[in-house]
Amino acid sequence: MKLTLRVWRQKNADAEGAMSTYQVDGISSDMSFLEMLDTLNEELILKGEDPVAFDHDCREGICGACSLVINGDAHGPERTTTCQLHMRSFRDGDTIDIEPWRASAFPVVKDLVVDRSAFDRIIQAGGYITAPTGAAPEAHATPVPKPDAELAFEHAECIGCGACVAACPNGAAMLFTSAKVNHLNVLPQGAPERETRVLDMVGQMDAEGFGGCTLAGECATACPKGIPLMSITSMNKEWLRATRKVARK
Ligand code: FES
Repeated sequence: MKLTLRVWRQKNADAEGAMSTYQVDGISSDMSFLEMLDTLNEELILKGEDPVAFDHDCREGICGACSLVINGDAHGPERTTTCQLHMRSFRDGDTIDIEPWRASAFPVVKDLVVDRSAFDRIIQAGGYITAPTGAAPEAHATPVPKPDAELAFEHAECIGCGACVAACPNGAAMLFTSAKVNHLNVLPQGAPERETRVLDMVGQMDAEGFGGCTLAGECATACPKGIPLMSITSMNKEWLRATRKVARK
């Protein structure tokens, strides 16, 4: 396949960015999107040019590091991570636009790399449980009803890639935050911090400058792990419950 790539190039956070056009040839339909970018970078390096900076780690769809807006869609045309997107989703002769996540809370570091540490700070605000030190407790010591375990697993699938923020017209982080809150709030192990968790994580999310949620639903559509939109309404319920409980004290 021969492709025209229009790639966002930006030297650093303070520099102005612009789209640069490149041609790549000999791309196999079996290559992943990141392997196609590797091919571009090898050519740029051989020509003595600066390779395109982009985030990646596991390349198996589990770490959430890869993050590209491809032809206007977070992670591109398939509902998967960028590293699991394959070139068979494109045609010979296509022009592909490649941009970083666009959100004020995710400032560009360089080219296609954005700073997603705002997510880390939301997790630090409440994404933990009180765990006594010592040996691991016996697995059946805390029974968890099956529906609750399944709900927790569903939310635990969030890999924190940020596609929800990139896809949201408001740049909101509600789907990510709700996945992290609900994952722990439905489990008995998460009960001691149930109220503080949701209040602190939502508070941190607001402090980071993410936009407000209007339930547009783009986040759930773009999420490569299928976190449902209902996750947000569940978190809102948790937040209201916690606010009332704190007000009564
Ligand atoms: S590189 Fe890990 S999810 Fe894509």
